[in-house]
Amino acid sequence: MDKLRIGIYGATGSVGLEAIESLVNHPWFEIAHLYASERSAGKTYKNACSLDTSSLPENISEMIVEPMNMDKIPEDIDVAFFALSEDIAKEYELKYAHKFAKRLPVITTSSALRMQEKVPLIITEVNADEHLKLAEDYRKEFNSKGAPFPQCNCTTVPFAFALKPLLETVGVEVAFMSSYQSISGSGAKALKKWEEERLNEKGLPKPFQYKSIVKDPEVVYEGNVRPIGVKDSKDEEGKVILETLKILGKYKEGSIIPASFTVDCMCNRVPTFRGHYEHIRVKPVKPCSTEDVIEIYKDFNKRCKALYGDLPSSPEEHLIILDRQPQTRFDVTLGDGMSIVLGEIEVKNGWIKLRALSDNLKKGAAKGSIQLIEYLYKIGFI
Ligand SMILES: NC(=O)c1ccc[n+]([C@@H]2O[C@H](COP(=O)([O-])OP(=O)(O)OC[C@H]3O[C@@H](n4cnc5c(N)ncnc54)[C@H](OP(=O)(O)O)[C@@H]3O)[C@@H](O)[C@H]2O)c1
Repeated sequence: MDKLRIGIYGATGSVGLEAIESLVNHPWFEIAHLYASERSAGKTYKNACSLDTSSLPENISEMIVEPMNMDKIPEDIDVAFFALSEDIAKEYELKYAHKFAKRLPVITTSSALRMQEKVPLIITEVNADEHLKLAEDYRKEFNSKGAPFPQCNCTTVPFAFALKPLLETVGVEVAFMSSYQSISGSGAKALKKWEEERLNEKGLPKPFQYKSIVKDPEVVYEGNVRPIGVKDSKDEEGKVILETLKILGKYKEGSIIPASFTVDCMCNRVPTFRGHYEHIRVKPVKPCSTEDVIEIYKDFNKRCKALYGDLPSSPEEHLIILDRQPQTRFDVTLGDGMSIVLGEIEVKNGWIKLRALSDNLKKGAAKGSIQLIEYLYKIGFI
């Protein structure tokens, strides 16, 4: 079988590297081209990427990074994978992604296309069936061979995953979430900055001493809890709210009608390397017990296994329910970063409470995107 050839744009960033790692020895796909900025173009991948590339085989780490030429879609790729930094993605994807989609599926991890009306927003296990109808419409309406497939925000992934089984069974009236998001969620430059801060701290991080309130504090990761979202559709919290409702919405006559429950969140960056941790509270429509909720999640996991368990990037367990509190350091790699980890599930005073953890770079971005490409390939969309 000829493997599908994937071109990665933004290959030298955190998500790009993770996508490459997910494609090493992939049974169905192979890497055709690695693209990045002029800064990286012409260098070998290992010299261009500022992150740890030591796990890559030589044939990949020695690949030459190419400059992006968006005016020309390479003829030898079957899928375009965009992992460009947000500002660049806004500039390029809004202009070129639909042009690319005329010929091939376009996967993108940026937010540029997520909320476009004709564009699906898929987390494979959560809503592939519902949102693929929109992709089929897209093909017909724009006479395209592909379609754009933006991936949702990495913070939305565990939240939407945790809500879906509840929505289908006991219903959701209100859902709240607070996040504790790792530095890697902010990209390669943030990781470098955090590393420098840690080297400079020499010991435990101390509070900064100011005599009066600082109006606009600088960006500091080490020793800090940094709120990262206002409720603006362009910022983390606004994105999570809108995306969650779109993902859990229903297809009707050519568009997705967003889910209609009340949703809110508060997002924070914390000095952890990898993994987005969330506290979730849900007011269900129908009363239920802790045991009911655990059963609902177990059933959902069984369904995920039956429908998507055969995809090469799927984990053994799509949802892992711990009988203790999840911890980022210990649990983020469960299921090779592709499982959503839930813990301390409890129903109290009519509210469902739980903790959720997911790998922002794997399930929340790169490998979750590869899993979606696998699904599209399996069902014959590609
Ligand atoms: N990090 C996460 O956990 C995560 C999760 C979900 C979604 N996302 C989204 O995924 C995207 C990538 O995130 P990231 O964390 O991987 O970002 P990143 O580490 O900052 O990487 C950005 C990539 O974009 C490339 N780039 C920047 N300017 C360019 C230009 N002018 N022309 C061509 N390429 C250019 C960079 O190439 P150079 O190295 O050559 O500069 C690099 O390959 C973002 O839109 C982000 O919001 C990230």
